[in-house]
Amino acid sequence: MQIQNIETPTDKEEQYLLLIKQIESIIVDEIPDSGNIGNILGLMKSELNLFWVGLYIRNGQKLGLGAFQGLPACTIIQWGKGVCGTAASSGETVIVDDVSQFPGYIACHAETASEIVIPGFINGQVSFVLDVDSASTFAFDNTDKMYLEQISQILSRFIK
Ligand code: SME
Repeated sequence: MQIQNIETPTDKEEQYLLLIKQIESIIVDEIPDSGNIGNILGLMKSELNLFWVGLYIRNGQKLGLGAFQGLPACTIIQWGKGVCGTAASSGETVIVDDVSQFPGYIACHAETASEIVIPGFINGQVSFVLDVDSASTFAFDNTDKMYLEQISQILSRFIK
């Protein structure tokens, strides 16, 4: 029997540590912020095998679609509505194991089965959310939460 040392990263942790290194190495100063955001989201989509990943940016009491990787998506989400609006208004990451069970879920794509939404802060205020969607149920856990919150902080550098 193999006993796992408590300090040994899990496969998922290893994957995120590598992804964050890849993200840091792909960022360049000389290009528009949209290029860096697009590359970060593109890396996330391919490395984490996501169905869709993107940003919704705060505009008053609404969230407007920002940069994304995947199919065209819903453009405006009211503050407090759906998974994105709930994460934005609470300032807390929301994990939804099965979107069919989330009251008030906003279905932009029939393929999405589970979802995690991370609020992004600028000057201490929720300014955007990072919406991460999988075609499988139960795709996200607290390990995803921890690392996606780090990635959300990296993304916040490119959001004015
Ligand atoms: N499902 C989200 C809406 C955004 S799409 O998934 C891209 C929600 O309930 O807020």
